[in-house]
Amino acid sequence: MDVASFQVQLDDLGARAMAAIAAAASPEGLDAVESGILGRKGELRALLAGIGTLSAQDRPRVGALANPVREAVEAALAERRAGLEAAALEERLRVEGEDVTMPGRPAWRGSLHPLPETEREIARIFGQFGFVVVESPEVESDELNFQALNIPADHPARDLWDTIYVERPASAAGPGAEDGQHLLLRTHTSPGQIRAMRQASPPIRILTPGRCYRYEAVDASHGFEFFQVEGLMVDEGTSMAHLRGLLDAFAHAMFGADRPTRFRPGYYPFTEPSVAFDIGCVVCEGQGCPACKRTGWMTILGAGMVHPVVLRNGGIDPERYQGFAFGMGTDRIAMLRYAITDIRAFLANDLRFLERL
Ligand code: PHE
Repeated sequence: MDVASFQVQLDDLGARAMAAIAAAASPEGLDAVESGILGRKGELRALLAGIGTLSAQDRPRVGALANPVREAVEAALAERRAGLEAAALEERLRVEGEDVTMPGRPAWRGSLHPLPETEREIARIFGQFGFVVVESPEVESDELNFQALNIPADHPARDLWDTIYVERPASAAGPGAEDGQHLLLRTHTSPGQIRAMRQASPPIRILTPGRCYRYEAVDASHGFEFFQVEGLMVDEGTSMAHLRGLLDAFAHAMFGADRPTRFRPGYYPFTEPSVAFDIGCVVCEGQGCPACKRTGWMTILGAGMVHPVVLRNGGIDPERYQGFAFGMGTDRIAMLRYAITDIRAFLANDLRFLERL
């Protein structure tokens, strides 16, 4: 053998390889061509094995001639392989009838629980009048939950709030039950009024939303754990007319612009005068039905002018400042908005309840 005849055989090998690659109809077909030409038992190796018959100076020349052929074959293989794979994908898409322009399956989206959602809506409405949300603790002192709100230890009004007391561990420092300083789970959000007044000076416009607890017999409209939103405004010249106007605006934003509203006399030790605020029944629109006990009205909150004693307990001079306060059950508002008939559903943790809303 000489260099020239190597060249001829290499060219022939290259030409046959290119033809076979072009003719291969599948990636497996290409694999066969690849191992037949370039593999360990392939034709190129076999050809180069004959190199030993050449003179020492011709051997590297033949090696140099073989390399471009190998590279050209490798490049053709890669290109053809990519082409075949793309064609296979096209074919699969066509056969399987996939429409890649079809919209995807919608992702499952959660939503807010109706209680926080209602709480936010209440805060949004009062926010338009400058009320800001502040937090107040759920474990509260007897002093702030009752005494500072003008409800002394032996006051019969305590019967309005069946209280769950918290035992302070013997190791904990601080005043204890023996000096009338019980710790308890707040029975309403009203202690937030005292905290706000002690923290800031007028003008004050705050909301304190949150969980409250009472030692209740649980039924469709009473929970031992429930939610309230408290509102407090203190400023010079604050009047009952402001309270009335504000609550009307709230009722109309929450329950419709033509919802009738009314004040009825009420009683709370920490407000004077005190009122119950009613809206026209959302079930029968005032006709009278079981939901409104046939009165056509539903009470949605308690309110009144802050009692001078309470202002003083909050460190505010009642000669100079007046205030009003209101407190509503978030559960009740949410039940009216969403026509929920059982308060227990809110905390029962049943997903079906949330998905129906
Ligand atoms: N704290 C009262 C309750 O829980 C509601 C209330 C708040 C009434 C503020 C008047 C003023 O029943």
